[in-house]
Amino acid sequence: MKRILSMLSVVLLLLFAAAMLSACGEERQPAEEATAVPAADGDETVVASGLPDEAMTIASDRGFSPDDIRAALMTYVPSGKLDEYYLFSSGGHSGNVLVVGVPSMRILKQIAVFTPESWQGYGFGSVESKTILDAGNVDGVEIRMGDTHHPALSETEGDYDGDFLFINDKASARVAVIDLRDFETKQIVKDPNIISNHGSTFVTPNTEYVLQGSQYATPLGWDYAPISEYKEKYRGLMTAWKFDRESGRIIPEESFSIELPPYWQDLCDAGKLVSDGWAFCNSLNSEMATGGVEQGNPPFEAGASQNDTDYMHIFNIDKAAEVAEAAGKTEMINGMRVIRMDTAVEEGIFFLAPEPKSPHGVDVTPDGKYMVVAGKLDPHVTIFGFEKMMQAIEDKNWTEDAYGIPVLDFDATVVTQVELGLGPLHTQYDGDGNAYTSLFLDSALVKWSLGGDDPAGYKVLEKVPVQYNLGHIAAAEGDTVSPDGNYLVALNKWAVDRFLPVGPLLPQNEQLVDISGAGPMRVIYDMPMGVGEPHYAQMIKADKLDPWLVYPEVGWDTLAQAPSEFATLPGEEKIERDGKNVTVFMTAVRSHLTPEHVEIEKGDHVTWHITNIETAHDATHGFQLGGYNISLSIEPGETTTFEFDAVNDGTFAFYCTEFCSALHLEMMGYLFVKPE
Ligand code: CUA
Repeated sequence: MKRILSMLSVVLLLLFAAAMLSACGEERQPAEEATAVPAADGDETVVASGLPDEAMTIASDRGFSPDDIRAALMTYVPSGKLDEYYLFSSGGHSGNVLVVGVPSMRILKQIAVFTPESWQGYGFGSVESKTILDAGNVDGVEIRMGDTHHPALSETEGDYDGDFLFINDKASARVAVIDLRDFETKQIVKDPNIISNHGSTFVTPNTEYVLQGSQYATPLGWDYAPISEYKEKYRGLMTAWKFDRESGRIIPEESFSIELPPYWQDLCDAGKLVSDGWAFCNSLNSEMATGGVEQGNPPFEAGASQNDTDYMHIFNIDKAAEVAEAAGKTEMINGMRVIRMDTAVEEGIFFLAPEPKSPHGVDVTPDGKYMVVAGKLDPHVTIFGFEKMMQAIEDKNWTEDAYGIPVLDFDATVVTQVELGLGPLHTQYDGDGNAYTSLFLDSALVKWSLGGDDPAGYKVLEKVPVQYNLGHIAAAEGDTVSPDGNYLVALNKWAVDRFLPVGPLLPQNEQLVDISGAGPMRVIYDMPMGVGEPHYAQMIKADKLDPWLVYPEVGWDTLAQAPSEFATLPGEEKIERDGKNVTVFMTAVRSHLTPEHVEIEKGDHVTWHITNIETAHDATHGFQLGGYNISLSIEPGETTTFEFDAVNDGTFAFYCTEFCSALHLEMMGYLFVKPE
């Protein structure tokens, strides 16, 4: 059997050949006849003429098919060249965020968020990171784990602007703010009234609010109540965290929540353009199942899947913000302004709409006109029309749920339903009017066309298998008002046979899919994550970011993003004592830590400031103090502070952990802790 390379593959191969020739700096005679390469399985692969023999030999020796060669050419980024996109991927239950270059899928960085990370000195003594992490403690319990789910890039007019990244921790209902000037976490806020969030984080089109929907209902205020009081006391919440761009912080005092029925709210999305000011969340337990197989009740998975429909939650966020500001319209619960359910209904800021059985994603189309709800237990996606919703609200075309919340008429709000396949979960978009939906049970990605108000315009176009059990998908600029197309990353739940075996816990698999439209969709790269579940990701054009190469000034406080009051310049190094309190002011520069000797006494409380006085790109110094659990990363210009109690006497060596120079090994010093 002979396989013929497609025209596109031939063109790409020719480009590859040309690149190889120019790299070699030599002229090559055009081949006079087609080069036939025996494929690994013994079949003969016929290719066009003009290919360098070496490239063909490599491809043949490695057993590459024409599709493999094409994928390699599409994803290979030569040494010294940079990627087109940044992918910000959740690290799932590793509690952090991964930064990946697309199309190479090279991991660039792991941003420590909810979990301590030793390389970046996050959570190992530095006061800055302790301040951030401690703000996420829950009722006095130190929380040092997390389950990151949905990263959200800050937006300006509905477009990613590359300034900030937000991500939630599902396990403890927390939201973190990452500053993309230095790719570091700056803030963690804890919602005081719930314990799990899932529909988080989603930003409004100008990042006025970072939206967070709760997941598992708990008593409002997150108190104790027996499960028998589920319907009366258990509640969900939609929280709108107010974000202040200037300070780069969420302002909890200006944030508010809306009380929701205990329906297990799921994913959410903010409206855009025509639907700007509104937000939408799915829910999956309209049955209000409370589990308890021990008492003879159906288990959660069955109890929460009985009804044919659950409820989409529809919020007028703009109106809710006005109500939150009005006197007497909110209740302060644990320091958070809460709009109670009856107020939300009275004020017309909260509606429901039936949606098919246990849905998962709700994804607003780039024009803001339609909300695509994936079925999960239904092979369809359901297309809700925003204008239809508004009309139904105006017409009061609704019934009421058990809590008196208006439930809009299904037929009045839905444009159409499109059958896509088994287990549709999440939808993304390109710039050409197409949608892409993950099919969990089919282990496939399906491309389909959007039809606007015309039900006949919605058509399934093609499917590509992925490996395996596809969850979220992230298309280039896919959540904006102007998606790019080009690439889509499939965040798979299972990897099975894709990588070398590494024991029973397998790497998680992110796959890059070519959706450029120059042919069928194709999986072109498998990337093992190396850490926990790649839950969701967002992909932004690389040129939208402008990160600092070094901090703006020597002596920089990275928490305040301003000059540090503890900045230490050369000549200012010192050790001060005030009773049992010792303060060290240290500088770090290639290849010296000053002072080299630090002498203290057992029982002292030590506050130690280190300023990296370097201004050279990449001249980072690390600092570790074995025996005291101290690990720091001090980037060029940074001033950092750590504190510890000298509980043990002895002689300790501290040293720089970054291989910063030929004399890196000599960049050390001694801490002498004298016995009392
Ligand atoms: Cu500084 Cu090694």
